[in-house]
Amino acid sequence: MPTKILVTGGCGFIGSNFIRYLLKQYPDIQVVNLDLLTYAGNLANLQGIDQSRYTFIKGDIADASLVDRVVKDQVEAIINFAAESHVDRSLYHPESFINTNILGTQVLLEAARRYQVPRFIQISTDEVYGSLGADDDPFTEKSPLDPSSTYSASKAAADMLIKACEKSFGYKAIITRGSNNYGPYQFPEKLIPLFISNAIENKPLPVYGDGLQVRDWIFVEDHCEAIDLIRQKGKLGEVYNIGGVSEYPNIEMTKTILNVLGKPESLIKYVKDRPGHDRRYALNISKIKKELGWNPKYQVPAGIKKTIDWYLGNKDWWQKIKSGEYRKYYEKHYQGR
Ligand code: NAD
Ligand code: DAU
Repeated sequence: MPTKILVTGGCGFIGSNFIRYLLKQYPDIQVVNLDLLTYAGNLANLQGIDQSRYTFIKGDIADASLVDRVVKDQVEAIINFAAESHVDRSLYHPESFINTNILGTQVLLEAARRYQVPRFIQISTDEVYGSLGADDDPFTEKSPLDPSSTYSASKAAADMLIKACEKSFGYKAIITRGSNNYGPYQFPEKLIPLFISNAIENKPLPVYGDGLQVRDWIFVEDHCEAIDLIRQKGKLGEVYNIGGVSEYPNIEMTKTILNVLGKPESLIKYVKDRPGHDRRYALNISKIKKELGWNPKYQVPAGIKKTIDWYLGNKDWWQKIKSGEYRKYYEKHYQGR
């Protein structure tokens, strides 16, 4: 019998990369993808995959009867990527973040417990830890949760529900906390794909505030590899940080993108800061290194070049997104900023 894995949010950025990764690595794995196809979900992200080992179900992870039917069907593992994932959007419509990120996770978790699914992996984020000062040590898995946005608060709430489920019912899941991902198929609302695509089109790159906020960048393939390792060998009940060990201030990242593309720095436009903008994220990844022997393979300049090549080679993919519904969001969010 092939191993059946339920991936939620598999039409988004990381989820689709993860499905591609699984189908490529393992000939005996069957993937079921449950995705609501929100603005961020895109069937084109999975074009060309092996359909014989793949089932797509359009639906909401907060829909308890649907989730029950899907999980009942002998699922070996649930990897929950489904989320509202953009911090800026959580300023405008917090309800969908509460519904998907909190309620949706709870519904999935309940079903996993009911059918005693062997492995439930919650894809959380480093943002649940809050913000670091320039000289602070990177966050460890034991750092307290101190979220700053509705997005990160909703992700932190989901992490808490998972811990509560373990304490109340003894059902142990695994939580991963990844840093900022970049790579193919990332929706162009996020810094890297937005700046690459704007630069290609000679449009301004809107840098928030002073541009000195620091993020730890991880290439999506590295993230997928780590999640898969955790799926197989991670200890139930544990939390694992997954970082790229590639801290970069936003302005340096912006200049790197312009430099690789051969575009002028005059495209940089400083704009009004994001409210509640976290200053710095950084992760201590000793635990996953020591327990599972994982290390990221890509560092920023190499991973960024690979990503830029993908966006140059797949203009149709992002131009279609940027000319559609997304334009309205872009105008609302950036005009007069
Ligand atoms: P994304 O926004 O690109 O994709 C989210 C996917 O979830 C979309 O396909 C969307 O249709 C689907 N979805 C949304 N609501 C749903 C619902 N109610 N039911 C079913 N499907 C639903 O997100 P991403 O960047 O790929 O992030 C995936 C996960 O990884 C998220 O949980 C996010 O919090 C986490 N994460 C992201 C990053 C990052 O840098 N992008 C870093 C660390 C962790
Ligand atoms: O750290 C992990 C998180 O990384 C994930 O949990 C989130 O899902 C993901 O969206 C990402 O959150 P960020 O807020 O860090 O990513 P974003 O790409 O939106 O922004 C990265 C940095 O760039 C941040 O400091 C804000 C800044 N920025 C972003 C945009 C979109 C700008 O300066 N200008 C912009 O137009």
